[in-house]
Amino acid sequence: MYVCLCREVTEKQVLKTISGGANTVSALQEALGAGGQCGRCCDYLQGMLKTPAAGATVKEAGLSS
Ligand code: FES
Repeated sequence: MYVCLCREVTEKQVLKTISGGANTVSALQEALGAGGQCGRCCDYLQGMLKTPAAGATVKEAGLSS
């Protein structure tokens, strides 16, 4: 599923980047470009960073190392 339509960034890419250590929207913007155009996805990205379940989701998706 796309999280950022402007930059065609998927939820899986965002979760992988978070598991790699990104912990701010700015870090996600720098790594993926997400949120760097219209900004409509920034709240969603912020939510992904804050949701305690994000870690579990990363594990479930097999993205953690
Ligand atoms: S939807 Fe992410 S910058 Fe526009």
